[in-house]
Amino acid sequence: MNEKIKSIKEELTTDIKNTHSMKEVADLKVKYLGKKGLVTELTSNMKELSIEERKEVGKLSNEIRTHVTEELATIEKKLELEELNQKLEKDTIDISLPSDKIKRGSRHPFNRIIEDIEDFFVSMGYDVVDGPEIETDENCFQRLNVPLGHPARDAQDTFYIDSEYLLRTQTSSVQARTMQKNQEKTPIRMICPGKVYRRDDDATHSHQFGQVEGLVIDKNVSLADLKGTLELFAKKMLGENTKVRFRPSFFPFTEPSVEVDVSCFKCGGKGCSLCKQTGWIEVLGAGMVHPNVLRMGGYDPEVWTGFAFGTGLDRFAMFRYAIPDIRYLYTNDIRFLEQFDRKDEENEIK
Ligand code: DAH
Repeated sequence: MNEKIKSIKEELTTDIKNTHSMKEVADLKVKYLGKKGLVTELTSNMKELSIEERKEVGKLSNEIRTHVTEELATIEKKLELEELNQKLEKDTIDISLPSDKIKRGSRHPFNRIIEDIEDFFVSMGYDVVDGPEIETDENCFQRLNVPLGHPARDAQDTFYIDSEYLLRTQTSSVQARTMQKNQEKTPIRMICPGKVYRRDDDATHSHQFGQVEGLVIDKNVSLADLKGTLELFAKKMLGENTKVRFRPSFFPFTEPSVEVDVSCFKCGGKGCSLCKQTGWIEVLGAGMVHPNVLRMGGYDPEVWTGFAFGTGLDRFAMFRYAIPDIRYLYTNDIRFLEQFDRKDEENEIK
């Protein structure tokens, strides 16, 4: 028995020396400890032995089993570590490589403009109201002093749905709605930002664009109130040094009507490519609400006066962010949108 154990030990030492892989360790486990393994075989003839002998053989074979198990576990661990080290060496990780960028969303330039406009007017006591994009001819034109057949309709290439309905060409339609809705005929102070549609499509015109409309109706409202309001508005949106000028103009729904220019925020009024060397940029249409419009809205023009204004949101966004083509605002191209991150927001003209 001792002889056998000695030779198993020797064989094991040689085997372990020649073992270089986990697969070989697994084979050795079978060779020594398996059902027909060398260690297991030591006890194969137990039945034929006396009790004393059995005790002795049992003890010795247990010892050798423990020895073999431990030796194999040691070599197994060693090989495992070696394999791991080899793998680590092969798969070197370059921790200096930049990680994948996690994409963060940002507010659309259009929404930023709307939010800023809303903030300003809400702080002045205005309501923000909404109106439908599919509108009646009556609200979009007739109640704004543009009857059927009026030449002013030609200026706005309208998408008609049928003879009664159309896609609104101007948020001014919400003026008509707000006046009718106000049953008690109390003062109105509202703005309405929203989408409008016209049959237009080039680098500075889109068939869909944004406008914001403003309407104030009260007693003793004057052109001076309009001018003061728009001056403050322009300074808030385009910078403290912005100057405002009114030019006489025509809109069917206001009398008198004005076009409002702001001093060029790029050159400060000296003249540059943005303002076409004039020093001024046109941003708004406005005026005193026409008596006919007041009357159709249920307000007595002898008692009430008001002013209204309308401006394109896209132009503001294009100026503020130097966007060369209006269509970028609508195509949802991620490469365009990504440029408006939070840092950018901090640098906005406020
Ligand atoms: N609705 C006009 C347009 O789309 C803009 C405008 C001009 C609105 C004068 C007004 C206004 O309320 O008083 O061109």
